[in-house]
Amino acid sequence: MRSDVELAEEILRRADALAACSEEANRITRVAYSPAMRLANDLVAGWMREAGLSVREDAAGNLLGRYDARQPGAKTLLIGSHLDSVRDAGRYDGPLGVLVAIACVQKLHDAGERLPFAIEVAGFCDEEGVRFQTTYLGSRALAGTLTAADLAQVDAQGVSIAEAMRGFGANPEHLDLARREARELIGYVEVHIEQGPVLDRMALPVGVVTGIVGQTRATLTFTGRAGHAGTTPPGFRQDALAGAAHLILLVETLMLREPGLLATVGQIEIQPGASNVIPGVARLTVDLRHADNTVREHFMELLAAGARHTARQRRLEVKHEIVQSTASVNCAPEFISLLQQAAQAHVPQVVELPSGAGHDAAALAALTPVGMLFVRCKDGISHHPDESVQAEDVAVALGVLSDFLRLVK
Ligand code: GLV
Ligand code: MN
Ligand code: MN
Repeated sequence: MRSDVELAEEILRRADALAACSEEANRITRVAYSPAMRLANDLVAGWMREAGLSVREDAAGNLLGRYDARQPGAKTLLIGSHLDSVRDAGRYDGPLGVLVAIACVQKLHDAGERLPFAIEVAGFCDEEGVRFQTTYLGSRALAGTLTAADLAQVDAQGVSIAEAMRGFGANPEHLDLARREARELIGYVEVHIEQGPVLDRMALPVGVVTGIVGQTRATLTFTGRAGHAGTTPPGFRQDALAGAAHLILLVETLMLREPGLLATVGQIEIQPGASNVIPGVARLTVDLRHADNTVREHFMELLAAGARHTARQRRLEVKHEIVQSTASVNCAPEFISLLQQAAQAHVPQVVELPSGAGHDAAALAALTPVGMLFVRCKDGISHHPDESVQAEDVAVALGVLSDFLRLVK
């Protein structure tokens, strides 16, 4: 039997191998339903089989590996995370949770042991929402909250979610097949890197998550008039980008005003996009997060009002669209308590912390109780190629998750 440290070292080697499943040379970019995702699913499926899991992909393109219970008819505990990534990503956001879950089952398989419940390891297909701006496609399909209308959303090339799913070999016409029933499940538990500095500062390898903040993703499109950069005097300009720039600073000003509010403009597109042409259209994304849903919604309204004001002052038009709004969720008290109990034997101090990042657990909370365990990452760096975790910390996470499985009823 391999030790948790040996398994953790293998997890890190596997994360390195997964990093090669990318759409871009020399950096990790793996968006939903891409050829890189196909490579990743196939690679992880092989590791799942080695761990004694029977593998399938569901109608939404999630990779699922099942380890049956001692007795037929028992409930199922879902564990895992996601396999897609942001652009120029690190190698642990998502894959770590899937790989730790597989290693956990590997331990049971090596010991020839079955539990009183089945385990399904999930590699979700879209937690980041990079391709379609809308997140949690896979976990929402499982929870039954992904609708046919959602599938019409298109990517930058005009490919709809439904078309992308079909190209991947998934089955958007029968998403109901991916949907799970609450009564067959015990819950969902996810290991994930913290993606923030709290554990690193406290010198602790893991922490128990209390809940996940709510998130709004919106797009704002300013439309003015394109024109000649050399001949259009100031008073005649309707510069859409200047309006967008004003809004970007308003986003930052509001964030500084409200404790706990995090607000980001992460993408901007300009048309026509030439150095000697006044921008006629500027489209930007806004990502707004707060633990309190009312505060988040209030600030989204303030931003929309600010955008309308800017547009009026600059003779522009503005359109705003809420792409996705996810309420904040609490982790199940039962799972928090069992993860704390499991962690006690592995760490000097068991801390609780909230998650500012979104996770598949947020979508699955609509279906079943959820719990999360965070793993320290170096300097809290994430969504960046410098993401880094230590094998010793991964071994602790593996130990805690394995012990947690013994406590679940
Ligand atoms: C996902 O990582 C998110 O929090 O946006
Ligand atoms: Mn993630
Ligand atoms: Mn992420």
